[in-house]
Amino acid sequence: MESNYQPHIYFAPLQESTDFVYRRAHAKHFGSIDKYFSPYLLVQKDGSLKKSHLRDTLPENCQGYTLVPQIMAGNSADFIFLANHLAALGYEEINWNLGCPYPMVTGKGMGSGLLPQPEKIREILEAALPRIKSRLSVKLRAGMVSGEEIFEVMPVLNDFPLTEVIIHPRIAKQLYNGTPDRELFEKALGLSKNPVVYNGDIFTSEDFEMIQKQFQSINTWMIGRGLLKNPFLAAELKGVQLPGKEERVVMLEQFHEEIYSNYATLLSGQSHLITRMIKFWEYFCFLFPNPHKAFKRIKKSVNQTKYEIAVRDNFLQLRNEEE
Ligand SMILES: Cc1cc2nc3c(=O)[nH]c(=O)nc-3n(C[C@H](O)[C@H](O)[C@H](O)COP(=O)(O)O)c2cc1C
Repeated sequence: MESNYQPHIYFAPLQESTDFVYRRAHAKHFGSIDKYFSPYLLVQKDGSLKKSHLRDTLPENCQGYTLVPQIMAGNSADFIFLANHLAALGYEEINWNLGCPYPMVTGKGMGSGLLPQPEKIREILEAALPRIKSRLSVKLRAGMVSGEEIFEVMPVLNDFPLTEVIIHPRIAKQLYNGTPDRELFEKALGLSKNPVVYNGDIFTSEDFEMIQKQFQSINTWMIGRGLLKNPFLAAELKGVQLPGKEERVVMLEQFHEEIYSNYATLLSGQSHLITRMIKFWEYFCFLFPNPHKAFKRIKKSVNQTKYEIAVRDNFLQLRNEEE
């Protein structure tokens, strides 16, 4: 890859993983992310917002990095309500979720459930855009049941001034199985009048180089699980010189410690805390010499003392690993 190539890297929204505690710690210890996206905010049946959603986008909890909050809405009223709530907090850009594949969401005509209904998408954008103050980007899958759906959706999106169209070229039915359809992405890219961002299965520099070679006109890449597994990945892709092994281990320890102590303050009871940290280690374990073993050690912890011993053991293994 050319050494002067400077990609923009976005941290994807991942429900239960990239909350404000995680994002703040990542930005502080690793950085190199141009925009973080929050997991989606949703209007509840009674018209209110969940406390955890409110907390996750409260500006005082999101200092030190650029955040684009994501909304989930299947009608213009919810869309406008969420957009205005976020604009009042000072957010100048928001993102609309047209990708969530889970039946709980799609069944209510939201997330990728809207992809088979391009005219509904148009209706919502026509009604909402004149009434909101923020800029809007859209994050979508290729379709709900068929990859053909995106080809009906792109012309609709072209009629609106979106900051970005972020495409994860899988269909909802696939969830995270199989591979992203890069041929389909290429066709969708050719159809878009709005700037396009690629998303899907960038886990290593090698993945990135291969995909970047195929899509040379793309300059912005959204990464989710790859960054959870390797928080240094964005810096690596930007050609930032990483520190040596010992210093990297210290950075990872400090990152973990900050997340752990923040959740310890925030969550009530050891079991909530440990459940939350197990979720963290589901991805974090991949930095360790034997990820499966490292994760198993953590999963077995029944209390904080056991958890802390498991963490110490894992870091010891990492220090002792041959380079
Ligand atoms: C556990 C999990 C939670 C997710 N939550 C969201 C979400 O709230 N909003 C969203 O747009 N995408 C969500 N996604 C999708 C990711 O943002 C991303 O599009 C997907 O993981 C593909 O990118 P990756 O291969 O780089 O991880 C989620 C994915 C996972 C695995």
